[in-house]
Amino acid sequence: MANALFRTKNIEQSIQDTDEPEGHGLRRELSALDLMVFGVGVVVGTGIFVLTGTAAKDYAGPAVALSFVLAGVVCGLAALCYAEFASTVPVAGSAYTFSYTTLGELPAWIIGWDLILELALGVGVVSIGWSGYLNSLLSQAGLELPEAITAAPGDGGKVNLPALLLVLGVAAILVFGVKLSARFNLVMVTIKIAIVLLVIFAGLFFVKSGNYNPFVPDSQPPSSGHGGLKAPLVQTLFGFEPQIYGAMGIFSGAALVFFAYIGFDVVATAAEETRKPQRDMPIGILGSLVICTILYVSVSLVVVGMQRYDMLSSAAPLAEAFRSVDKGWIATIISIGAVAGLTTVCMILMMGQSRVFFAMSRDGLLPPLFARVHPKYGTPHVSTMLIAVVVAAIAGFTPIHEIDVMVNIGTLFAFLVVAASVLILRRTRPELPRAFRVPLVPWLPILSMLATLWLMINLSGETWLRFLVWMVAGFAVYFFYGARHSRLR
Ligand code: ALA
Repeated sequence: MANALFRTKNIEQSIQDTDEPEGHGLRRELSALDLMVFGVGVVVGTGIFVLTGTAAKDYAGPAVALSFVLAGVVCGLAALCYAEFASTVPVAGSAYTFSYTTLGELPAWIIGWDLILELALGVGVVSIGWSGYLNSLLSQAGLELPEAITAAPGDGGKVNLPALLLVLGVAAILVFGVKLSARFNLVMVTIKIAIVLLVIFAGLFFVKSGNYNPFVPDSQPPSSGHGGLKAPLVQTLFGFEPQIYGAMGIFSGAALVFFAYIGFDVVATAAEETRKPQRDMPIGILGSLVICTILYVSVSLVVVGMQRYDMLSSAAPLAEAFRSVDKGWIATIISIGAVAGLTTVCMILMMGQSRVFFAMSRDGLLPPLFARVHPKYGTPHVSTMLIAVVVAAIAGFTPIHEIDVMVNIGTLFAFLVVAASVLILRRTRPELPRAFRVPLVPWLPILSMLATLWLMINLSGETWLRFLVWMVAGFAVYFFYGARHSRLR
């Protein structure tokens, strides 16, 4: 039994699966530049457009820029590990496939299950953020929608209809194929970067140095409702009084804005559709991460310089910062850009999710239905539509803050396993060609694991509990279905 759980898929076999004659293979048409567009397209989103506000206001103050640096460093370390993996095992499925070839079937299942949390719930978070910017835009135009149809029950409404419809619409576009989506992405990414640059360069004129003082506000007890299970696990573990701001606030802020970096690893899920994965994968992954880190630090510094951190908006901080200096027309442009940009993010996350389902199903861990490819468009249409329906329901009826931390913990856990896998694979398969090698092995992967764990324990005890429940559910699915139907059996 134990052997079965840790049976590994042979790497050569995984690569060969890609060329299966049964119509299960995806088309290879992406280049390094496509990947980078893909990466930036998914990474810049709700994290910078929305979460910057909450992170500065409730946790880090103007030092939120440092939170972005910390989260960026954690991701950078993980990105190096991802790049080595993606360049060694160029098949669909991201960390899922990588761990199937190294750690074994059960760990691979665990990762795949986590990726569902990251990608599917990520789509939910972004669509809710999108809905917020859309509503603010509509209300500027005098077309205010009633709260009952623009907010989830926990947020004072009945259903978040715009978020729900966005998810379904994006799924429909994806079913028509990568080609169309990639071109569409390029336009959207361009708009998004232009908006971010607009915030940085136009905002610079309105920065007041007084707003940076204090840069790191003194730590203080949080308002009620943040103690107990809601406090960061690290504070509970070490018996600290729950506190916000100060050094610990920068870490809590980092655990929150980590969401802003989510997605660079999704680039790895497209390995199977990449023309020269060995060379293009590392360039695509690391390139998009570096660009985003620079943009985030700049944007956050400008925004907290324009408006005092405790006055920032939690829903649309970038636009509101401009409104606070009487530049409403710039705020409007930003909102339009955010609506366009967040659409792309939804698309790519959902695409990543359907590819993970595709890989898991091809391996027999999920029913074969999920691996069906559309005869004409060459896309995994069944898995895409199924995800869309479930995520649309979640996005329509759940408050954003309930799900964004779940996305973070699931993703961080996947980082942990990927870094461990790099170490294991170097030992068990030292001879495999690696187009990209992580420097300073074993130290760098170990550092990556420690840094990841640190961010994880800066999430709340409640988040950890929910994550455990999710994992237990995953074990149940695996033992009742996956373990019995695995193609490796
Ligand atoms: N990193 C992406 C965002 O911030 C998921 O929206």
